[in-house]
Amino acid sequence: MADTDRQYDIVVWGATGVAGRLVAEYLTEQYDPSAVTLAIGGRNETRLKALAADLAEGTEWTDVPIILGDATDPASLRELAASTAVVCTTVGPYTTYGTLLVEACIGAGTDYCDLTGEVNWIRETVDQFHDAAVEAETWIVHSCGFDSVPADIGTALVQSFARETFGVPCDTVRIYVEDGSEGVSGGTLASFGELFETAAEDPVARETLANPYSLAPPGERDGVDPGQQRWPKQDPLRDEWTAPSPMAPVNERIVRRSNALLGYPWGREFRCSEVVPTGRGLRGAATAGAVAGGLGLFSAAMSVGPLRSGIRTYVFPDPGEGPTSEETDQGYFTIRVLGRGTADGNRFTVEAEFGADWGPGYGATARMLGEAGMCLYEDDTDSPLSGGVLTPAAAIGTPLADRLRAVGFTATVSEATGPGV
Ligand SMILES: NC(=O)c1ccc[n+]([C@@H]2O[C@H](COP(=O)([O-])OP(=O)(O)OC[C@H]3O[C@@H](n4cnc5c(N)ncnc54)[C@H](OP(=O)(O)O)[C@@H]3O)[C@@H](O)[C@H]2O)c1
Repeated sequence: MADTDRQYDIVVWGATGVAGRLVAEYLTEQYDPSAVTLAIGGRNETRLKALAADLAEGTEWTDVPIILGDATDPASLRELAASTAVVCTTVGPYTTYGTLLVEACIGAGTDYCDLTGEVNWIRETVDQFHDAAVEAETWIVHSCGFDSVPADIGTALVQSFARETFGVPCDTVRIYVEDGSEGVSGGTLASFGELFETAAEDPVARETLANPYSLAPPGERDGVDPGQQRWPKQDPLRDEWTAPSPMAPVNERIVRRSNALLGYPWGREFRCSEVVPTGRGLRGAATAGAVAGGLGLFSAAMSVGPLRSGIRTYVFPDPGEGPTSEETDQGYFTIRVLGRGTADGNRFTVEAEFGADWGPGYGATARMLGEAGMCLYEDDTDSPLSGGVLTPAAAIGTPLADRLRAVGFTATVSEATGPGV
């Protein structure tokens, strides 16, 4: 439970970046100073002051305090962690800038949530800090943005519905990335590049990317699930073709970690996969082939040192560049989660839809991280756990869907019937 006697309730750390600014804007627009005490943090005082002035315009936030520090300076991070109940951090790549903050938060008993999709780094924090975070009863919650809230909370919605309605969980969950539009930031691509860089150098990172259960607790890192789809495939639950999803490596592992952390309520045989649906017939097969081929070529290029550094230098935008608030306001996304189970010998299908009329990676992500921070601060969770290095579903669960629905997201769940399911 968050320590509510701190100077601040929530600090947005990395507020001068593309995602951090949107999180700060969201929280100051959505909540007034009587609901939550906010501060913004980063390393550049001039930019933070300019942001504080912008946040004051048209809101009741006349004076947003600033916290200065550096992600590479442990003393400044300890001070930051001691000043607040919750840190929402967007300082990435997390592989480079995240570890010292996690350590400082556990040391101060400060709850923490982030936007990382860097599986290698999540594995590092699981191995290094999970036991200490449990001991300190501190919540370290990874992947509270588009990676991996829709997949993880969508699966939690499906499984709660299945257990309440049919008395058993679904044994198979498929996550379909159906629709979406928005740009991408330099910060996200820098983190993506860092993932390939680490995989090239570190055998543990390579094992993490190869093993579908690599984010499970030590000793539980195997199971029946073969892991991510790599080729075009006729879908087993819907009458159409599917291609691999670029987010599957993180989202699937986060969902499996949720199941493990919660004590396997979805079963030891539970399987989950995330794909991009591409339609029926020849056209669907050709599109799936093109998506799989493009993704394969890009991954192959990023795996070769000189090509990787060329792409990072000349193709990716610089950190700090990315879609504007206006652009993310025009974006949208839809993720559908289908679960299949068997009750009394009869197959059933449950369907959740998770979506929003904001771009997935920034407009919607800022709201997801902001609301995850509010859940930690207000202790708004259905989790049986009391701390650890956690996932959104294991730490917060369906209350996060309720909060997101209340601020304009779609988060529905029902039994799926009719042709094709
Ligand atoms: N899960 C998702 O769906 C999702 C979506 C969006 C982003 N992300 C992730 O979120 C992270 C941020 O993305 P972004 O596009 O916002 O990146 P960005 O624009 O580059 O912002 C990075 C922030 O980190 C700060 N920073 C960098 N080095 C620092 C240091 N040594 N000490 C203190 N602060 C430091 C920057 O400060 P300055 O302004 O002073 O440079 C900036 O505020 C990335 O890892 C990205 O992959 C994830």
